[in-house]
Amino acid sequence: MDNTEYFERFGIVLNDRVVRTPVAIASMAGWVDGEYVVARKDHVGAAFIGGYSIDGPAIQASHEMVRQGRKEFISDDPLTDIAHQIRLIEETDVICGVNLRGGAPESYQAVAREFGSRIIYEIDAHCRQEPMVQAGCGEHFLHNPEALVGTVKALKQENVTVSVKIRAGVHRDDRALAADLWHAGADILHVDLMDFGYQKVRQIRNSCPLILIANNSINTFERMKEMLSHGADMVSLARKSDERTLAGLDAAITRYADEHGWYNSPKQLCRGGDLRALAFCCMPVKNCPLIPTLERAGLTREEYVAIKMDAVKGTKLEEGKQTCFGSLSWCCKDSSPCMFRNLTLRQAGVSNQEYMRLKRELANTLIKRLFRDNNDPC
Ligand SMILES: Cc1cc2nc3c(=O)[nH]c(=O)nc-3n(C[C@H](O)[C@H](O)[C@H](O)COP(=O)(O)O)c2cc1C
Ligand code: SF4
Ligand code: SF4
Repeated sequence: MDNTEYFERFGIVLNDRVVRTPVAIASMAGWVDGEYVVARKDHVGAAFIGGYSIDGPAIQASHEMVRQGRKEFISDDPLTDIAHQIRLIEETDVICGVNLRGGAPESYQAVAREFGSRIIYEIDAHCRQEPMVQAGCGEHFLHNPEALVGTVKALKQENVTVSVKIRAGVHRDDRALAADLWHAGADILHVDLMDFGYQKVRQIRNSCPLILIANNSINTFERMKEMLSHGADMVSLARKSDERTLAGLDAAITRYADEHGWYNSPKQLCRGGDLRALAFCCMPVKNCPLIPTLERAGLTREEYVAIKMDAVKGTKLEEGKQTCFGSLSWCCKDSSPCMFRNLTLRQAGVSNQEYMRLKRELANTLIKRLFRDNNDPC
């Protein structure tokens, strides 16, 4: 398959490259390096190697952690080590991210000046090991979000793609943090959900338009689907990132995408769906969860109707005289049986898969409009 086909299937682009599958490897210091990723290259779309300690205090912290019995990637010359790992991954189709630990924004900028757009720069705001926190990185950033925002901004000055790896529930408000990181210019939010589950994914999805990678014990297709249907773009695995588990998830989501058209389609809004579910909502004519959602988003009913009609203009979703509201743009998910919608689709020569792909494009447009026009839609 070529990139166009992968793009049609999943529609995910990271660091200006099409992602082959929404399964990623999450970093494990001392374990996940170039060789680790190459051994799993057929089953993942992206991998975050490291973490690598990139300045004096963080390297000292790594030494201390090794003394305490943990495995770390230790090097006095981390740039040379990282360069070697990147080269290995560049031989594959896997998009390469590097998880970095450092206290000062300049430390991250130095790495970005070395590797430019070849990699995604992932700030480790996750590690809770005391020596790393004392070195001013890892979880330190979640307690000092202004330092994290400053580091994102410093990296963005180098024109590179930035991911932030966080642990949910540490910052006082993950929604506010997500919005602040988006405003600072971050591109990807990589979230260790701990025990919070899909509700946290939905919360974050409704707070920012960033690429969202869900992480923590997402080792089965059922759990993966739960995360995707509440707003995750991808999932990542660390401890269970063995070939068998990754291959199983990759095969299952690929099959699902080809059968259903939209691999991470949301539930309907009234069934707990995230903001993307507006793509399936009816006209605002009754008292239902759509109304408070529009109010929170700062949209009048008329504006919502206008945005949606404008978004489908000239597309096959504009059709649908026999449907409830005169256009497929107001129609429900393909999983809700409906004779009128199906008749319209058949007459227009549109398969269910294409219908769902068109709804995916509609959702993308709606999300762009909501977050562009309104800094804090929910
Ligand atoms: C041994 C080990 C080392 C880890 N090292 C890092 C790290 O360097 N940077 C980071 O952001 N997360 C690190 N993590 C966290 C994982 O990336 C991941 O968030 C966590 O293990 C939960 O995901 P999982 O259930 O798929 O393992 C590490 C986890 C483990 C088990
Ligand atoms: S508009 Fe329709 S789909 Fe949306 S929340 Fe209301 S009843 Fe549910
Ligand atoms: S025509 Fe069917 S799918 Fe469309 S809005 Fe009405 S009930 Fe829903």
